[in-house]
Amino acid sequence: MKFMDLYKGYEKRKIAMDERISSIISRSQFIFGSDLEELEEKLANYSGSKYGLGISSGHEALQLALIALGFNAGEDHSDKEVIVPALTFFSTAEAPAFLGMKVVICDIDKDTYNMDLNLLEKLINKNTVAIIPVNLFGQCIDYDKINEMAKKYNVLVIEDACQSFGADYKNKKSCNLGDISVTSFFPAKPLGCFGDGGMAFTNNEEFYQKLKKLRHHGDEGGMSHVMLGTTGRLDNLQAGIILEKFKGFDEDMCLRRNVAEYYTENLKDIVKTPKIESFNKSVYAQYVVMSENRDEVRNYLKEKEIPTALYYPNPIHLAPVLKHLGYREGDMPVAEYVCKNSFALPIYNEMARDEQDYVIEALRQVVK
Ligand SMILES: Cc1ncc(COP(=O)(O)O)c(C=O)c1O
Repeated sequence: MKFMDLYKGYEKRKIAMDERISSIISRSQFIFGSDLEELEEKLANYSGSKYGLGISSGHEALQLALIALGFNAGEDHSDKEVIVPALTFFSTAEAPAFLGMKVVICDIDKDTYNMDLNLLEKLINKNTVAIIPVNLFGQCIDYDKINEMAKKYNVLVIEDACQSFGADYKNKKSCNLGDISVTSFFPAKPLGCFGDGGMAFTNNEEFYQKLKKLRHHGDEGGMSHVMLGTTGRLDNLQAGIILEKFKGFDEDMCLRRNVAEYYTENLKDIVKTPKIESFNKSVYAQYVVMSENRDEVRNYLKEKEIPTALYYPNPIHLAPVLKHLGYREGDMPVAEYVCKNSFALPIYNEMARDEQDYVIEALRQVVK
């Protein structure tokens, strides 16, 4: 059994995918191109955002989003604070830290694993310039509350939707919930490509124009470099691949939700299964469960050739490179508890029921 069978996603649309790839190669449209433009328009429409801009990865999109919000590369930002959750992929904290901003870490909610909104407000002060909420494992945080706080204290919001493209929040879609929203097309993501890729979304024309320059070395045209940017475009070949996958995306997410809900139905009495808020529809980027004898359970599953993974083995505040921030073990008890007791089960859109039954049965044998 594979943790995630990415080949199956390709196999079912192989002919269209191969044709698209070969067409791009024969057109030799590798950097920028009509596929990228089409993808940007389609994904922006889907999310409900005015603008979508293909970026080379989710991380680069986060990095450029911060710069587009006004925190230019090469300037001193040491007095500016950016709040991030204690449980996320390191990138969320790395992007502001890379610009020399002060990273402030917020513990998470014990049920949704997203940032704890009761703690968040207490962390906002006169130095806070931005919040980067993460829609962990494919479920949105409560943006009505986040955006209300952001407005009250005049801070900006970057929606880290790297795990949540396609998720629903109330009557809106993920990627349209912050001042700038970013997603990732890393192969394992709900909408993954065949390498690295990402996209930034916004409704703000000024941010959009800046992002457009930033992904191309701050070039405003004619090699007139007005900002410090990077080589940050999404390749046209990856854009073409995503366009083909996007054709069946909603159906894929239905399949994925069915897989997740089947797990929940059959495991909820023995492990803590994901809690999805009533106003949310998750895309289950990961299916994470909790068990206090986690290591024993994982070893048993391994013996049965069932792969599992940790999201994440360590919380952000204990990252060695952030030691200077002065956080210690015990500072974020919920995130620390989740890191020690949670693990992710195999999940992919095409996962068969008998494979799931095998996982469920093995878990029922080992969980006390
Ligand atoms: C929450 C979060 N933020 C940022 C990223 C970075 O995205 P990428 O891997 O495309 O750079 C990821 C990817 O794993 C992520 O899960």
